[in-house]
Amino acid sequence: MSQLQGRRILLGVTGGIAAYKSADLVRRLKEAGAEVRVVMTRGATEFVRPLTFQAVSGEPVHESLLDPQAEAAMGHIELARWADALLIAPATADALARMAHGLADDLLTTICLATEAPIAVAPAMNRVMWAHPATQDNLALLQRRGVRVFGPGSGDQACGEVGSGRMLEPLELVQVMAGMFGQPLLQGLHVLITAGPTREPIDPVRYITNRSSGKMGFAIAEAARQAGAQVTLVAGPCTLPTPAGVERVDVETAGQMRDAVAERATDSQIFIASAAVADYRLDTVAESKIKKTGENMQLTLVRNPDILAEVAALDGGPFTVGFAAETDDMHAHAQDKRRRKGLDMIAANWVGRPGSGFDADNNALEVLWEGGSASLGPGPKTRIAQELIGLIAERRQQQGN
Ligand code: PMT
Repeated sequence: MSQLQGRRILLGVTGGIAAYKSADLVRRLKEAGAEVRVVMTRGATEFVRPLTFQAVSGEPVHESLLDPQAEAAMGHIELARWADALLIAPATADALARMAHGLADDLLTTICLATEAPIAVAPAMNRVMWAHPATQDNLALLQRRGVRVFGPGSGDQACGEVGSGRMLEPLELVQVMAGMFGQPLLQGLHVLITAGPTREPIDPVRYITNRSSGKMGFAIAEAARQAGAQVTLVAGPCTLPTPAGVERVDVETAGQMRDAVAERATDSQIFIASAAVADYRLDTVAESKIKKTGENMQLTLVRNPDILAEVAALDGGPFTVGFAAETDDMHAHAQDKRRRKGLDMIAANWVGRPGSGFDADNNALEVLWEGGSASLGPGPKTRIAQELIGLIAERRQQQGN
């Protein structure tokens, strides 16, 4: 990875179980050509011995702010000046809070204040801690100060729970760190994304919906943000936290999603429709709860507007990327959708199979455009999203948009 060649990365390791992965991260960064030095907090040394990091980095590990020997060899100011970038991985909830409040009571937090190099954090914590408003507020504050946030991913956690809060894998971190040194792929662009399901009301207490969790669309929003774009995420009902730095517009029905998109589409350069929009809605929504009467009941449905097709038909509209969720003959159906809707690109995925598609943490995409295709994954949606953003940037440039 040429962008990391010769770059000096100061890796801050804080006290979380994901610290064991950071040894591999050092190795991967070095393989990509970076020089790596490691600063550990006291908590981190409880999880992994400094000797491990010394062995993989080939450099002494820095632990203490007030260690006279370390200060003589390379104090916090020297380390702060040495770094081309500071990456804190894993970054615990405590580390984020201390950084947000400008504490400088250990070597790592002191370096955070003393360095002029860009700072990135790779959060890792239990999903409830991650979703806590205190953590989210701290993160938003850090983000406003220019700190880059990589991840977290979601999936099985060390505490036995499942959800958002896993540190990104070392290879993913190497990839996003490389992005810090090149011109961000989507710098200066506005990316509009739809995500999640829609809900079509039947009466005041019932609705029609689908199994979309929003994970794919939220991961794309985060990847687009990391690639330097201004991102607006129009989200159907889902409980995921908003990726840092992303503007979120919550909607419920397909009609509301269409209005939110129509308002913003002409001001965006890329539109990515990952939402699972209901194709039909009730002809008439009952004003009061429908009573149980006969043995059978019939609901009359009418077609919803096709949000994606409407955006693709705009004169001088954005580069338009659709999704195709298929249970059979994926390639042919997706190609047909791409042509019918007049899309620049379509990303097809299997649904109704375990381990990908709806509500899974992983996915695999078959991405199609006029005269070409690419396979992404299988892998975590966070990684697939980054690869998709890379592909979109490349295709858009090749089309001369
Ligand atoms: O949210 P997750 O749980 O992470 O799951 C991700 C996903 C499976 C929902 C996602 O990867 C995906 O496939 N999204 C598209 C789902 C879908 O509705 O596909 P479709 O083949 O029915 O629709 C084709 C395209 O038209 C989609 O881009 C859709 O957003 C768009 N569409 C459809 C109907 C409509 N009225 N308006 C639209 O814009």
